[in-house]
Amino acid sequence: MNTSPKLLEVSKLSKAFEQDGSTVSVLSDVSFSLNRESSLAIVGPSGCGKTTLLLLLAGLLKFDSGEILFNGSALTGSSSRIGLVLQNYGLLPWKTVSENIVLGAKLQKLNINNNAISRVKHTLGIEHLDRLYPEQLSGGQKQRVALARVFLLKPQLLLLDEPFSALDAITREKLQHFLMDEYRARKFGFIVVTHSIEEAVALGQRIMIFDPAKQNLNAVIDNPNVFTKGFRSSKIYFDLCYDVHKALLN
Ligand SMILES: Nc1ncnc2c1ncn2[C@@H]1O[C@H](COP(=O)(O)OP(=O)(O)OP(=O)(O)O)[C@@H](O)[C@H]1O
Ligand SMILES: [Mg+2]
Repeated sequence: MNTSPKLLEVSKLSKAFEQDGSTVSVLSDVSFSLNRESSLAIVGPSGCGKTTLLLLLAGLLKFDSGEILFNGSALTGSSSRIGLVLQNYGLLPWKTVSENIVLGAKLQKLNINNNAISRVKHTLGIEHLDRLYPEQLSGGQKQRVALARVFLLKPQLLLLDEPFSALDAITREKLQHFLMDEYRARKFGFIVVTHSIEEAVALGQRIMIFDPAKQNLNAVIDNPNVFTKGFRSSKIYFDLCYDVHKALLN
C-alpha cells in the first residue's frame, strides 16, 4: 500500500509549444503539491497555461522537463484514478446524453448501478435530457453532463477546468455546493481552475495565482476553513476574496 501523504507532487514542470515556427514557453519550472483529500484553486489570466497544466496532470499531454508524482509514482500517462472535466466539456457529439454520462465508466469497465446514475442526474438537474445529443444542449447543460460523467467515476484526483463558467449564478452556486457535498461524502483531491475569485475562495483549500510573466504559480494563499459549513457567509471568506483580488492585481 502506498503511504505517501501527497496525492500529487509536481516538480520543476516545464512545457513549451511551437507557434508560427518559434518555441513559446507556457510553463516554466512549476512546482507544487497536493495532499490527499485536499483542494487547490488556480486563478490566472486567459492564455497563461492553466488548461495546459491540467492536461499535463491528467497525463494527456507530455511535458518537456520536470516530474509529476501521483501517489508517489511517476505519472507516465492517463490514469483511471484521475478525472478531468475539460473547458469544452469533451462530450462525444454522436452519443446521447445518457450514453455520454456512462461513457467513462464503460471505458473503464466499472460497474455503476442505476441508482448512482439517477442520483447524479437528479442532483445536476439533467434527468430530462437523456435522449438529446450534445448539439441540442445549452453550454450549461453540456457542462452538467460532463460533470455527471466524471463524478460517476469516483476519481481519487479530480481536475476541473472552469467547470461552472457557463452557468447562471444560482446554478453555479448549487453546483459548487454539489462538489463540496460530494467531497464531504467521499473525500478526494481536486484542483479547480477558475477565473472567479469568489469561486477560488469557495472551493480551494489553497489558492495559487498564475504569474504569466514568469510562466509560474505564485502567491499561495492558505484557506484552511474552506470545508467548514457556513464558510461562505463568514467574514474570513470575504476577507480572503479581498486578499486574492489584491494578489491578482500585483
Ligand atoms: N497545442 C498547442 N499548440 C500550440 N500552442 C498552444 C497549444 N495549446 C496551448 N497553446 C498555447 O499555450 C498558451 C496557454 O494556453 P492554455 O489553454 O493553457 O491557457 P489558459 O490559461 O487555459 O487560458 P484560458 O483561461 O483562456 O482558458 C496559449 O498561448 C496557447 O496559445
Ligand atoms: Mg483554459
